[in-house]
Amino acid sequence: MKIIVGNWKMYPATLPEASLIAQSSRRAVRGLKRTRVVVCPPFLYSERIGKLAGERFAVGAQDCFWEDVGARTGEVSAQMLAKLGLTHVIIGHSERRALGEKDDDVAKKVAAAIREKLTTIVCVGERVRDDGGAYFGLVGEQIDAAFSGIPTGASKRIIVAYEPIWAIGSQAVRAATPEDLHEMIVLIRKHLTRIFGKAAGFRIPILYGGSVDEKNAMGYLARGLADGLLIGRISLDKEKFTAIVRNAEALR
Ligand code: PGA
Repeated sequence: MKIIVGNWKMYPATLPEASLIAQSSRRAVRGLKRTRVVVCPPFLYSERIGKLAGERFAVGAQDCFWEDVGARTGEVSAQMLAKLGLTHVIIGHSERRALGEKDDDVAKKVAAAIREKLTTIVCVGERVRDDGGAYFGLVGEQIDAAFSGIPTGASKRIIVAYEPIWAIGSQAVRAATPEDLHEMIVLIRKHLTRIFGKAAGFRIPILYGGSVDEKNAMGYLARGLADGLLIGRISLDKEKFTAIVRNAEALR
């Protein structure tokens, strides 16, 4: 089973545009057997787009807060997302970490999301790659921090997205190679099996994100051995996103 997640970030500018993109993404899953799609629009659009959720097409959010209700100006709780019928949430995206989110904030958000039975897509990734390999330690710490205290039984609702920051967005140095990804998957898997045990740790999907497009996507799935993709810019491009979803399905 491949999981293709669209992280729409703060796009598009209007709800009608958002609806069109969501309808197209939903059409992309028709007839699929081995691939599922999750789209994560801005909060404001999620109620409308959430109504399109169905088989192999889920709708999620890009963040959540750990308290259920409270005097927290501008925040949206995991509980609110769940009550709205959303099923997935991205937590710890590098663009949120860049705004000040720390590993322990991520841990609290993950715990809240799990409590609400949301499938929780936790983003990890290094800002730079140094020759000494310190980035391995950093990503390992992000994993350990995010899942400390999460019971093994909840691991079926966890997805990890490896997104090297240097490969994300229009300022990206370059996309990671499938080989860059593969060595990181080995490291992430090691941490996950240590936390959740072998069986559960091996079942947690690990996605790749960062400058994924219709040309490089298959390399991450086939050679990088990713269980799916977390796609930013290209998730808003109806044709290219559909092509990636269809190609993922065709992969054996
Ligand atoms: P990108 O974004 O595909 O536009 O690089 C990925 C992400 O930030 O999730």
